[in-house]
Amino acid sequence: MVTIGIVTRNIHGWATTQLTRAIIELGHETFPFNFRSLYTEIGESGYKVFSNNVDLGEKLSALIVRPLGRLSFEQAFFRMDTLHLLENLGVPVINSPKAIEIAINKHRTLALLSKSGIKVPYTVVTENVNEAVKRLSFEKGIVVKPLFGSKGLGSFLLKDRDFAWRVLADLRYLRHVLYLQEFLKHGGRDIRAFVVGENVVAAMCRELPGSWKTNIARGAKPKPLKVTEEITEIAVKAAKIVGCDVAGVDIVEVEGEKYVIEVNSQPGWKGIQRVTKIDIAKKIVEYVVKEKIKR
Ligand SMILES: Nc1ncnc2c1ncn2[C@@H]1O[C@H](COP(=O)(O)OP(=O)(O)O)[C@@H](O)[C@H]1O
Ligand SMILES: [Mg+2]
Repeated sequence: MVTIGIVTRNIHGWATTQLTRAIIELGHETFPFNFRSLYTEIGESGYKVFSNNVDLGEKLSALIVRPLGRLSFEQAFFRMDTLHLLENLGVPVINSPKAIEIAINKHRTLALLSKSGIKVPYTVVTENVNEAVKRLSFEKGIVVKPLFGSKGLGSFLLKDRDFAWRVLADLRYLRHVLYLQEFLKHGGRDIRAFVVGENVVAAMCRELPGSWKTNIARGAKPKPLKVTEEITEIAVKAAKIVGCDVAGVDIVEVEGEKYVIEVNSQPGWKGIQRVTKIDIAKKIVEYVVKEKIKR
């Protein structure tokens, strides 16, 4: 029997409840705790990381990380540093803090994917409005996204050059970095592949006719999708490049070509669980126990 920690914003949340159930069903001990309960004690003989008086370096055989949420700079560094410190104490962290740092950042992720031969949409990332506008063609539309966004929030579509110039200048003035991407005409449908280790354990189409954002959080409906070899190859490769053991890979298909638009390092699976009989939480826990726990 091993003890698997789950660090989360809400220990009663759906995914944490699913993981807890799976951990217990597989005969192990679960230790869910809140990010806000974390503290590090640093003294003469090094450091220890605790939650609720429990020495996590001693207690945990592995730690599963749920979404960190919207954070201040200090909170983001503290939470990520704490994950790094736990990993340095020998606790396998899933996903690893390094992978989370890459995946959370759409700029770095897309560059790495593209360098490794994964098809991605043409994208310009800059603080310079002139450089951006010069390089983009607005006829088909340009998608503007927050670097660190999720759930489709904060991204929008630009179709007019003058309007684009004005809006981008304002974003620049507010100190945003501009992440600008060619619009792929997908017809209100994309693919989410849920990767665990070397496998896509489930896939779905997300459909929202008349909308270009197909996040479940924006109202898209999940439809079952057969996991093909092609989807597995693309999604597992993308997850690996970013360093994720568990990932939700978003794929847009246009004229038979598949483009990866992002890799989510802390994917939810409530939507995809509705269209598959596979027990996703169990797949995650089985993978952690078999592949990540060494002690
Ligand atoms: N370049 C694009 N062309 C067309 N649709 C896009 C593009 N990028 C994103 N989308 C749509 O917007 C959704 C959200 O974008 P995504 O990059 O996955 O960011 P988020 O982190 O908000 O999920 C996608 O699921 C897709 O439906
Ligand atoms: Mg997405």
